[in-house]
Amino acid sequence: MVKIAILGYGTVGSGVFEVIRQNKDVITGKINEAIEVKYVLDLKTFEDDPVTEVLTNSFDDIVNDPEVEIVCETMGGVKPAYEFTRRALEKGKSVCTSNKELVEMHGPELLKLAKANNCSYLFEASVGGGIPIIRPLRTSLAQEEILSITGILNGTTNYILTKMETEGLAFADVLKRAQEKGYAEKNPDADVLGFDACRKIAILTSLAYGKNVSYADILTEGITAITDTDFAYMKKLGATIKLFAKSLKKGDKYYAIVAPFVVTDENPLFGVNGVYNAILLNCNMGGETMYYGKGAGKLATASAVVADVLDCARHIGKNLDTRWDEEKLEISPVDSFVRRFFVRVSGNDRAAAADAFGEITFIDGVAEGECGFITGEMSEADYREKAAKAGNVIAMIRMDS
Ligand code: HSE
Repeated sequence: MVKIAILGYGTVGSGVFEVIRQNKDVITGKINEAIEVKYVLDLKTFEDDPVTEVLTNSFDDIVNDPEVEIVCETMGGVKPAYEFTRRALEKGKSVCTSNKELVEMHGPELLKLAKANNCSYLFEASVGGGIPIIRPLRTSLAQEEILSITGILNGTTNYILTKMETEGLAFADVLKRAQEKGYAEKNPDADVLGFDACRKIAILTSLAYGKNVSYADILTEGITAITDTDFAYMKKLGATIKLFAKSLKKGDKYYAIVAPFVVTDENPLFGVNGVYNAILLNCNMGGETMYYGKGAGKLATASAVVADVLDCARHIGKNLDTRWDEEKLEISPVDSFVRRFFVRVSGNDRAAAADAFGEITFIDGVAEGECGFITGEMSEADYREKAAKAGNVIAMIRMDS
């Protein structure tokens, strides 16, 4: 019997409790041992809920109980999750978490602490909800050089973009609907401005290269400027728009960006719609692999936390090593990055557009009083210079290839 505690009985914490109860026999069958939830920490009370039997409002009960070997941190936020995680690890209790904010902010330090105390700090649920991606990077692909990571890592924005595309609606209308349905937060900034996806690609890139990527070093643009007119152009192109979180290694340089991209059906991520997430990895030996599933939601995220619990239960007293050093991974500016751009300029002066942007391919018959086109290949820095000179750019979206 392995005894565990859950910190926080919110969406994910109650999901962990449910997964362990419902799949009790499956779990015992897989690891030859039962997992027992000895404590759930929460300040609230939950009438008529089986959690009542194990509910405590004191973290000391948990951290001072030598029987508790694994702690699930499903509180979210940094305070008090950071302190509780440190105290649990210092006592040799492994910690499994869904808390991407804490992982992104203190990952290397907490991993070091776990190693020093012969226990583990695992965070499969912190990126891509129920999609196994951290474990593949840590184990199945440890022999590979990761050349690039491209992810649709935010369900809220993918839902909004999908609805804008399929129903021809404006961003604000879809956002309102998403909020009503519970797919978007009341304050949606972290999602729609791209910060949530940015934290997630920072974690994946750190794991891919073993050094620390700072969230602040990643150029991040959200989806708030995307309009129904942009999607009308996409229809004509047979393309769509996705919020991509990307990182890649080119020579000895590393790049990362979060931004909307124009995506065609040549990219396997083209068909990832609604609240679903997916991650496409390109490795130097095995080539492309893709991971797809629910990027959020109670049971999907909880299931990923429980996967980590089972890993820890199989390795009590041992550290499951995750290479993520405190040393900084330099992220180069994307200025020199060469790609094509989808651009809309105001007015009907095609000659002026061609003069400003060079060889371009016009997309006709979409909107009045403007020109839409795709540029030839140029660097981001070049594009910016040309756009400033033209002075009439309404919209720009990077082309994926
Ligand atoms: N707000 C996040 C999303 C939840 O929409 O994907 C999961 O991290």
